[in-house]
Amino acid sequence: MRTVHTIAELRAQVATWRRAGERVAFVPTMGNLHRGHIHLVERARERAPRTVASVFVNPTQFGPNEDYAGYPRTLEDDARQLAAIGLDVLFAPTVAEMYPRPLDEMTQVAVPELSGVLCGASRPIHFRGVATVVSKLFNMVQPDVALFGEKDWQQLIVIRRLVADLDFPIEIVGVPTVREADGLALSSRNGYLTAEERAIAPVLYATLTACAERVRAGERDYERLADEAKARLSAAGFRPDYFEIRRAHDLRLPADGGADLRILAAAWLGRARLIDNLAV
Ligand code: PAF
Repeated sequence: MRTVHTIAELRAQVATWRRAGERVAFVPTMGNLHRGHIHLVERARERAPRTVASVFVNPTQFGPNEDYAGYPRTLEDDARQLAAIGLDVLFAPTVAEMYPRPLDEMTQVAVPELSGVLCGASRPIHFRGVATVVSKLFNMVQPDVALFGEKDWQQLIVIRRLVADLDFPIEIVGVPTVREADGLALSSRNGYLTAEERAIAPVLYATLTACAERVRAGERDYERLADEAKARLSAAGFRPDYFEIRRAHDLRLPADGGADLRILAAAWLGRARLIDNLAV
């Protein structure tokens, strides 16, 4: 595996593969890799002979009071794990390489219809930061296919829309969430949990599962189901941000029936903001 830190090195490497007619799969990450990320890269390797992953803690997707400064940076360990599973190139740029001008002077990419709800309601600049950095990474790597975890369902839908609206010739693949044995979705932010909070954390998945079962059984009062779910989370020690039943493909409120639904939730547990979601 080669680690490159500049856009020029990355482009030169990808160009040699292109000349040889090889397809390229891409997995963007913010590092601090866990089994969920490794699973994504393994799925990427099944889809193309060449794979690129990026590790970049993107400042533009963190709000002013969020955990950008403290977000875990573990590049050496990330590189070791990626090399062990046969990644071709790890792209690990600096902030100056990605954003050479002051951030507020740079071109940004917004996906307005999908970015103001759910996570976007409490993190107003988040998806603009994600859409901007992912667009830049797509232009740098120019992959045939890019893979994203379904744990960030809203992010996946935002990226699908971005690719459709801006005509990126890239196939976007969502990869099912990897979970601990007790159901907790793997996340870098699980590392913020104390032992006591870690024991409570699976209640989020259990609450999603219970709600999905009730929807499958025919319940259609989604507001009541969400209120009951939030009450259960609060009773367990969470501070719920949202718990909502939405149309899976466009995140709109379900107009009729129980088809194409996704249940999405975010809740604080101590200093960790956990997100998860489930198909109905
Ligand atoms: O999901 C993430 O880790 C990030 O939002 C991403 C897609 C790498 C963009 O910074």
